[in-house]
This record gives sequence, structure tokens and C-alpha cells, in this order.
Amino acid sequence: MVAPDYDIIMGVMQRRRSVRRYGRETISDALLDKLLRAAELAPSAGNLQARDFILVRDPNTKHELAEAAYGQFFIAMAPVVLVGCANIARSRIAYGQGAELYAVQDATIAACYVQLAAEALSIATCWIGAFDEKRVSLALKIPLDIRPVLMLPVGYPDESPEPTVRMEPSRFTHHELWSSLDV
Ligand SMILES: Cc1cc2nc3c(=O)[nH]c(=O)nc-3n(C[C@H](O)[C@H](O)[C@H](O)COP(=O)(O)O)c2cc1C
Repeated sequence: MVAPDYDIIMGVMQRRRSVRRYGRETISDALLDKLLRAAELAPSAGNLQARDFILVRDPNTKHELAEAAYGQFFIAMAPVVLVGCANIARSRIAYGQGAELYAVQDATIAACYVQLAAEALSIATCWIGAFDEKRVSLALKIPLDIRPVLMLPVGYPDESPEPTVRMEPSRFTHHELWSSLDV
């Protein structure tokens, strides 16, 4: 079967790496707009699009974010940091108990789209999940019913990391029922 789109999207996914060193060059607003256009296209629960991004360019704020991420100071070296937030308030419009989990999923899949669009534009990102949520909320004045769930430092790459090891699909695929696999 000829499926050039599959080859294209797989090529982008295979090239993407977590990059933790960035060049000094800034990322233009036009390029950031392209990344956010990708976020816009992501699926979301009930199409409520219960995710928001905070764009941070201010060096002091980036430093605070790096500190909140337990001293991952490479974050502050990126020209832009996108903070992906689960907008639980928006999700609650339609969902009660499920709102938080849906909003978290909306935020994470949108950030995934951003990462892939960035790769397609030769822009580097690194998913940051290890941070003190309260500190980030305080630094960015995020209200209580919105949760920062990830950060993406965004910049031009200044390193070319080797690919990391992956499990074969047979190690993480179960057929019909859960089957006990090795951890
Ligand atoms: C939920 C999640 C949390 C992560 N948190 C961090 C983090 O706090 N700091 C970091 O440097 N990388 C973090 N990463 C990046 C992973 O280390 C990286 O994706 C993994 O090692 C595979 O490497 P690759 O992205 O280059 O394929 C995180 C990734 C995910 C999906």
C-alpha cells in the first residue's frame, strides 16, 4: 500500500527528540502561531478544547519556571516556554467528575501536536512534566480551576541527541484481554 502521508508523519515522529540545549536565536511570533495552529487542531473531549497555553518569554519568569521544575535550568535557556494548562473550568461546562481528567488529556494531546509541528519546522522542544505545580501556578497567576500540566521549552536546537530506546509493540500490546507481560 502506498501511503505517502504515513511516511511523512512517521518521519517527523522518528526525527523528534527531547532537546535540552537551545541556540540564542529567538522564535518569531509567526512561528509560534504555527505551533498554536497545530494545538488548535488537536482533538478534545466534547470539542470543548479545555486547554490553554501560556507563552513565556520573560527571562525572570523563565528562571522561576526552571526553579519550579526542580532546577532544570535548561528550561530558562529556551527563548520561549509554553506552559500547557488543563482548563478544568471549561471542561466542567459539560462534564462533572470527568472534567479534570478530560482537561488534562486535552492539554496533553494539544502539546503533543505542538511538539510534532515544531519538529516539522526544525524547532526543538522538550516535554517537562517534573515540576512543582503550585509554584508554577503562583508564578504565572494561574487560577485554582486551571492546572499547569506540562511545559515545553521551545527553541532552535543546539544539540542532536541520539534516539532513545523504545519497546517493541509486542511488549506493550495486549490482545482482547490484559495479558501479563514483563514490566
Ligand atoms: C510526561 C512526561 C514528562 C517528562 N518530564 C521531563 C522532565 O521533567 N524533564 C526532562 O528533561 N524531560 C522530560 N520528559 C522527556 C522524556 O525524558 C523523553 O521524552 C524520553 O526520555 C524519550 O526521549 P525522546 O523524547 O528524545 O524520544 C518527559 C516526557 C514526558 C512524556
